Amino acid sequence: MTQNTCLPFNGTDYVEFYVGNAKQAAHYYQSAFGFQPVAYAGLETGHKDRTSYVLRQDKITFVLTGAMHPDSPIAEHHKQHGDGVKVIALSVDDCKSVFDEAVARGAKVYQDLKTEKDEFGSITTAGIHTYGDAVHIFVERKNYKGPFMPGFVAWDPPYKPEDTGLLYVDHIVGNVNWDEMDKTADFYRTVFGFDQLISFDDKDISTDYTALKSKVMSSDNFKVKFPINEPAHGKKKSQIEEYLDFYIGPGPQHVAMATDDIEATIAALRNRGVDFLDVPDSYYNTVTERVGKIDEDLDVMKKHRILIDRDDEGYLLQLFTKPVEDRPTFFFEIIQRKGAKSFGKGNFKALFESIELEQGKRGTL
Ligand code: FE2
Repeated sequence: MTQNTCLPFNGTDYVEFYVGNAKQAAHYYQSAFGFQPVAYAGLETGHKDRTSYVLRQDKITFVLTGAMHPDSPIAEHHKQHGDGVKVIALSVDDCKSVFDEAVARGAKVYQDLKTEKDEFGSITTAGIHTYGDAVHIFVERKNYKGPFMPGFVAWDPPYKPEDTGLLYVDHIVGNVNWDEMDKTADFYRTVFGFDQLISFDDKDISTDYTALKSKVMSSDNFKVKFPINEPAHGKKKSQIEEYLDFYIGPGPQHVAMATDDIEATIAALRNRGVDFLDVPDSYYNTVTERVGKIDEDLDVMKKHRILIDRDDEGYLLQLFTKPVEDRPTFFFEIIQRKGAKSFGKGNFKALFESIELEQGKRGTL
């Protein structure tokens, strides 16, 4: 690979959350989001330090991991950050060549190259650090047929709520400190060979109170997209700053999950108790002027509080959950793309006004 060639990623392999109680978190992702049980690791599989549950919905795999002892790095991570994303794992065909190239381009090693085997075959992984305490693990699983990885056993409980139509990870956003967006974007440019798709500054994304800057870094095949946010100065505290205060530093802010029927997906998620951001009624008074004609019935979009945005290539429908843990940190986005390749910039102002309503209730504006 020559310098600045994009590393060959096939997409997101899995996202691992370090949580306070993996068993209960697994139940939440089953019951609220319709993820299906896949695999388990814990005391019964010889893991003394952790319990992990693996859940899947179509191409989205989540690993929920909790610590078994206070001196474990998992417990330390949880004490510091609360529930949050530790690993953004990326699928590769040749782990060694991707890892060697990333390290040669300056990546800091988190986990050396490791091949693990069981009766289902072998998996090779290696990991590097990214912003904050988050890491990327490269996963080569072409020689493996088991449920998840060596060290895990199939987990097949009778409780299997229906899925909610979530299909794949569209993008994963990171929040970084003041003045660190450029440095982080440069890391993805230099180490992964990513291109910058879009950038916004505080003139694009600000309300009376809050502001942010953002750069979207993407692999050349668009299968891995990482928008990077940093706070900008507003009259009051930016939502990015609120995240940094409560997460105690930079970290993954949201995972966007794609659906091809956002109305059905949002209706199902709401039915199961997932909380979404409030969108003001007034949003729907002006949205048609901004986005033009859409295939969907606007009244239905309004009923489910779905946001709409348009770019040169089409439009997109999206909605954001409220934070899914005690701290106002990590949340999810549900997105349906109808041609648009962007991320909903036009919705940011409407969204921010909505987030500020929530911040106001928490007294953190
Ligand atoms: Fe997003």
